[in-house]
Amino acid sequence: METKTYLNEQKERVEEALSRYMLKVGGEFADHIDTLRYSLFAGGKRIRPILCLAGARLISGTADNDEAVLPIACALECLHTYSLIHDDLPAMDDDALRRGKPTNHVVYGEAAAILAGDALQCFAFDLLSNSDHIRIPPQAMLEIISVVSRAAGPLGMVGGQYLDVVHEGREISYDLLRTIHRSKTGKLITASVLAGGIAGGADQRQKKNLTEFGNAIGLAFQIVDDILNVESTTEALGKAAGSDSARGKATYPAFFGLEQSKKMAADAVDSAVRSLNGFGDDAAPLRALAQYILTRTK
Ligand code: IPE
Ligand code: IPE
Ligand code: MG
Ligand code: MG
Repeated sequence: METKTYLNEQKERVEEALSRYMLKVGGEFADHIDTLRYSLFAGGKRIRPILCLAGARLISGTADNDEAVLPIACALECLHTYSLIHDDLPAMDDDALRRGKPTNHVVYGEAAAILAGDALQCFAFDLLSNSDHIRIPPQAMLEIISVVSRAAGPLGMVGGQYLDVVHEGREISYDLLRTIHRSKTGKLITASVLAGGIAGGADQRQKKNLTEFGNAIGLAFQIVDDILNVESTTEALGKAAGSDSARGKATYPAFFGLEQSKKMAADAVDSAVRSLNGFGDDAAPLRALAQYILTRTK
C-alpha cells in the first residue's frame, strides 16, 4: 500500500476514535471542554497514535487488536496536544498559530489554555486506565502507563521543554542539544511505538528493538522540525516559520548548518530502519513511517 494511503487511513481511524472517546457534556463544563476540542481537532498529523497502532500490529501480527489499542493511541495524542498548547503560551514559545489556526491562548485566553493543557494531560491517563475501554491485560497496561508517564514527565518531554526554554539565546554543547531533542520530542515518540508493542505482547528483545527504532526516529523528527522551521513557510507548516532563530533556540541547523543537519536526520532514519532488521516484511509500515518522518513537508 502507498504510504500516503496508509497514513490517511490510520489518521481517519484515530480521528474517529478521538471523537468517540472525547468527553461530551453540556452544562457548566461545556465551554471548558470546547477549549480542549478546539486544539485536539485542529488537524494534527497524528503520528504518535499511528506509531502506536503500527507497533501493536507488528508485534501481534494482526489488526484485530486495533480497537483495544486505540485508547492508548488517543491518550498519546492528548498528551502531545497538551504539550503543544503549553509550548505555544506566551511564557514559552509565544506562538500565535498552530495546526493552521490561532493558538489556544489566542482564542480563549491564557488561563483557559493552561487549563485545557492540564485537562488533556489528565484525560490521557483517564483513557489509559478506564476499564470501559481497556482490553489489554492489566499487567501490560500498568507497564504502558509507566512507559508513557515517564516519557511525558520530568525526565522526558516536560524536562526537555524546560531545557529548551531555559537555554534560549545561550550557547550549549552538542550533548545538551541532543538531550533536549531526545527528551522534548524523542521520548514521547519512543513511548508511542513501544506502548503499541507492549499492547501487542512484545518480548524483551522486541521492546529493545522498538525502543531503538523510536529513539532514532524521535531524534530525526525534531531535527526535521528544526529544518522545516528554517526552510518552509508559515502557510505550509500551519505554524510560524523562522521562529527558532528569532528566539535564539538551540537547533540542529543553528549548530551544524542545514546540510549537515539533513545528513544527521537521514542517518538517524537509516539507523532506525536497521533496528527493525529482525522483523522482516511485517515491519514495512514502520519503515514507511520512518521515511515519512524524514521527507515530510509539514
Ligand atoms: C510538533 O509535532 C511538535 C514537535 C514535537 C516537533 P507534530 O509535527 O507531530 O505536530 P502535529 O501534531 O502534526 O500538529
Ligand atoms: C516542541 O518543540 C516540543 C514539544 C514537546 C511541544 P518545538 O517548539 O520545536 O515545536 P514547534 O515547532 O513549536 O511545533
Ligand atoms: Mg514551539
Ligand atoms: Mg519547532
